[in-house]
Amino acid sequence: MDWRTKLLDPKPQARQGYKSLVTPVYRGSTVVFDDQKSVTDDWRQAENGYSYGLYGTPTALELASRIAKIEGARETFIVPGGQAAIALIYLAYCQAGSHALVPYSAYGPNKAMAEGLMRGLNVEVEPYDPLIGDGISALIRENTTLIWCESPGSVTMEIQDIPAIVKAAHARDVAVALDNTYAAGVMLDAFECGVDVSMQALTKYVGGHSDLLLGSVSSRDDEAYAKLGPIYQQLGLAVSPDDCSLALRGLQTLSVRLDALEKATLEVANWLVEQPMVDAVFHPALPSCPGHEIWKRDFTGSTSVFSFTLKNSTTGAKVVDFINALNIFRIGMSWGGVNSLAVVYPNLDRPNQDFEGRIVRLNIGLEAPSDLIADLEQAMSKL
Ligand SMILES: Cc1ncc(COP(=O)(O)O)c(C=O)c1O
Repeated sequence: MDWRTKLLDPKPQARQGYKSLVTPVYRGSTVVFDDQKSVTDDWRQAENGYSYGLYGTPTALELASRIAKIEGARETFIVPGGQAAIALIYLAYCQAGSHALVPYSAYGPNKAMAEGLMRGLNVEVEPYDPLIGDGISALIRENTTLIWCESPGSVTMEIQDIPAIVKAAHARDVAVALDNTYAAGVMLDAFECGVDVSMQALTKYVGGHSDLLLGSVSSRDDEAYAKLGPIYQQLGLAVSPDDCSLALRGLQTLSVRLDALEKATLEVANWLVEQPMVDAVFHPALPSCPGHEIWKRDFTGSTSVFSFTLKNSTTGAKVVDFINALNIFRIGMSWGGVNSLAVVYPNLDRPNQDFEGRIVRLNIGLEAPSDLIADLEQAMSKL
């Protein structure tokens, strides 16, 4: 063999059979087939064998099957981020002329997609009150194809009655999708609640260290799997095997991180309840959170993100000063990592609810809660 050919010889030279506890990082776009008749371009790689790296190398498929097992899904797709997961679900369940429903409290970019991309495709996405429960029936139309749930809601933390929404939706043959990121896919059993599709931003708790972006879309049954698969293929939602490897590592410590985060977050939230400058604390485990009773019924615990409002004697400008005065809390919007974060939402678009820049969202990390409380206290004392 010429040395040039030797350079390209892909046959493994090293001894095979290395056994490790860690899933290898499989890189690769092209899949090599055994013979011509085996050549396919099939997105159902889990069943029909590997066809193309675009649909995931074994690293992504390992992550997908672990998430599917944890959530009790038929199958899970791994996508480049939570927002990509939202896009996949919209595009799989809505066509030109469809009507969809999304709670006012949904993640902002979900609503932005509803008003931007989906409206441009002639899909009408109507916002609804997250606390509507079975009242959702009245909003379902002939052409409704999808109802979104997100529980708790972003920033305002409303807990939704998902089983009631699912019952009303399924009675009219409408699919329900849940953004289950808050619960990390484990503190709320999405499929027990009856949803058709459950998605997570793995970027948050599964990643857990603010160093990767990934999403998951889990299907309840064959019908949901068959609806999502072709759109997943057409959108080309490829993911990095390195990110999947980090997410697989994240899964190994998810339970200890969630335990520690829940405990620390409750400590900070309970301290805030006692502060004279604080008006309300929106933490699912506290009665002041809208839908708290439903949280007690459906969830097995709480996680690290919650909000509070300051009394209206505090101006929006003062709240900004408070955020800027924090030392341990960093200013940032994402959550689920090991660092504590704070951010104020000056223009939260909620009908009939104007917080006038006095709603602050916190993500509690793994710092000592006593230090976090001291940090909040010193920043508040400057007000
Ligand atoms: C509830 C929720 N869903 C989805 C996303 C989007 O995830 P990603 O940042 O991975 O696109 C986020 C991100 O903040 C989120 O908070």
